[in-house]
Amino acid sequence: MSGTLPQNLLVTGGCGFIGSNFVRFWLSRHPQCRIVVYDLLTYAGRQENLADCWAHPNLQLVIGDISNQEQVLQVCQDHAIDLIINFAAETHVDQSIVRPLVFTETNVRGTHVLLEVARELEIRFHQVSTDEVYGHVPEPQQRLEQDALSPRSPYAASKAAADQLVQAYFITYGLRVTTTRGSNTVGPYQHPEKAVPLFSTNALLDRELPVYGDGLQQRDYTHVHDHCTGIEAVLLHGQPGEIYNVGTGAEIANLEMVAVILDTLGKDHRLVKHVKDRPGHDRRYSVNVTKLRALGWVPQYTCQQAIAETAQWYAGHADWWQPIREGSFRQYYQEQYSARLPDTGA
Ligand code: TYD
Repeated sequence: MSGTLPQNLLVTGGCGFIGSNFVRFWLSRHPQCRIVVYDLLTYAGRQENLADCWAHPNLQLVIGDISNQEQVLQVCQDHAIDLIINFAAETHVDQSIVRPLVFTETNVRGTHVLLEVARELEIRFHQVSTDEVYGHVPEPQQRLEQDALSPRSPYAASKAAADQLVQAYFITYGLRVTTTRGSNTVGPYQHPEKAVPLFSTNALLDRELPVYGDGLQQRDYTHVHDHCTGIEAVLLHGQPGEIYNVGTGAEIANLEMVAVILDTLGKDHRLVKHVKDRPGHDRRYSVNVTKLRALGWVPQYTCQQAIAETAQWYAGHADWWQPIREGSFRQYYQEQYSARLPDTGA
């Protein structure tokens, strides 16, 4: 695919966390491209995430569901789309434990609908996946792209199913597909249900940080900027039918992630509260990123730098996260944490 830069991109889930960061990044790197953001604007997809970008002449928003085949087809035809990048997904493991069917609907069926439209119109397709499809990775192993999938949460299982569909469309129909499997991504505009923004905003509010279990689970916390440059490298230089891991390649324990947040924000480590663990909690994710590096990609951040910069962003953007925390998120927080943090009015 080297050398051919698509001109008209459909970015599904472009108002979500990684999607909105990608749109901003892509507009700055390739301002001549036209981007149609296709987003259902559910709780994590927010127009505000691109408030600074909507005035760009090559950006526009269509509100819609990736499971709506007719609408997706229409939008792709109307805008002569030559690349679909699928960021649209339900992504939070804890939510998938409580309401798993929504994950199958959006992540599996939605991806399948996009693939069908891509097949019909012969559009290139990029799937944004996750390292969680590999499941728990025992030390000192790292997962390679060709390794077996072993998802263990409804979320991870839905993403694994979608990955398999993407590969099937390459093998069966010769559709030009690529996939990236990103590790835990952090940075601006991540909804506060996820660990790093939850802990950052709780710390800023002087509330306890609910660390699941012993906090020794390990994750590869990658800055969203590096995730975006990784996808860019694959779009520009990746091979059709190939999958590429994206991550720093070096994971850290959750307790270290928490310590970086508290130190960055100058908060007391006694805010850490060990609480009841998540069912089926994967102990460790770890990916080998040699294949992506071979495309010339070089990550800029370590896990610690990514987390520190993210905590600082939350410290400076209460105007963005406070309305979210005070809105429908309150009910989720109650349901998820009231038994775990009974003394804090969670
Ligand atoms: P999360 O951001 O939910 O990502 P994932 O579960 O997909 O890796 O969580 C990151 C890590 O932090 C994970 O090991 C679970 C843990 N965690 C907590 O300890 N407490 C929390 O309240 C949350 C949301 C996550």
